[in-house]
Amino acid sequence: MSKTIKKIAVLTSGGDSPGMNAAIRAVVRTCAYHNIECIGVYRGYEGLMEGDFKEMNARSVKGIINKGGTILKSARSKEFRTKEGREKAHNILLEAKVDALVTIGGDGTFTGAMIFSQEFNFPIMGIPGTIDNDIVGTTHTLGFDTALNTVVDAIDKIRDTASSHNRLFFVEVMGRDVGHIALNAGIAGGAEEILIPEEDLGLDRLVESLKRSRKSGKSSSIVVVAEGDKIGKNIFELKDYVDQNMDGYDVRVSVLGHMQRGGAPSCFDRVLASRMGVKAVESLLEGKTNSMVGLLNGKMELTPIEKAIKGKTKINLELLRVSDIMST
Ligand code: F6P
Repeated sequence: MSKTIKKIAVLTSGGDSPGMNAAIRAVVRTCAYHNIECIGVYRGYEGLMEGDFKEMNARSVKGIINKGGTILKSARSKEFRTKEGREKAHNILLEAKVDALVTIGGDGTFTGAMIFSQEFNFPIMGIPGTIDNDIVGTTHTLGFDTALNTVVDAIDKIRDTASSHNRLFFVEVMGRDVGHIALNAGIAGGAEEILIPEEDLGLDRLVESLKRSRKSGKSSSIVVVAEGDKIGKNIFELKDYVDQNMDGYDVRVSVLGHMQRGGAPSCFDRVLASRMGVKAVESLLEGKTNSMVGLLNGKMELTPIEKAIKGKTKINLELLRVSDIMST
């Protein structure tokens, strides 16, 4: 392993996701295992530019594997998007004798990391942490599995009211540009229809399908809508449209919001975070840089960070078909 890296910094940036703490713990403990110094950076790139650091050892990360959010806090930084901001961060890192950086976050976090790494030839390794699962180079981002379980739990509860009152519920889930949460949680929650940004179902088809299922004897229904849904209407407009164009249902809207990002990480996310943290540190020690760790075919693999950012995740067409058949 390369001897040049003696101190690694770790930060979380962008939207928090369950499993970030487990990943911080894994990074810190892998550093300790390899006798590398480790510092935690508070508030993402904001804290990086201000030198808001904390030395961390194996004991600093006790009791956090099961905690949601991020003990290092997170932020979205405008200043780090400027050359001056990144220069500030670079000087601070040099002063603190930090040799490499592990960034945990989504595509915004990785874009900043990539530019920084290219500008200053600074070793960077990314860990994908976002509930949206919208990063190429990993089948699962950290927090996706936990968020799915949270959403399914919420849909199950909403279904109790839907069936007790013969109601149609539109349930909005997160996914600004992608429908991975909606599609998976929709199938698992037994949704009648699932509206995602990748596919344009069309309002008429939606109403037709709801009428068909009403006729076939369904007395209540759940429609899961990704927040970035392609039909282009917000969920309250969707409700109004369905209200105006079909009888028989009492229609309600439930927007799940940020509760989807919170809570204790699932077993899957804890194991994934631990594997990713080990892989990230050991890859840096092997001299690798400008990459992201990810789960591909069951193994930890590296993907160039540029590919991870620029690529677009694809929706699983088989899942779409399964969802269609299930709503028969
Ligand atoms: O974490 C990703 C995400 O959940 C998106 O799906 C959503 O649009 C966004 O974060 C909202 O985050 P914030 O309220 O922090 O801007």
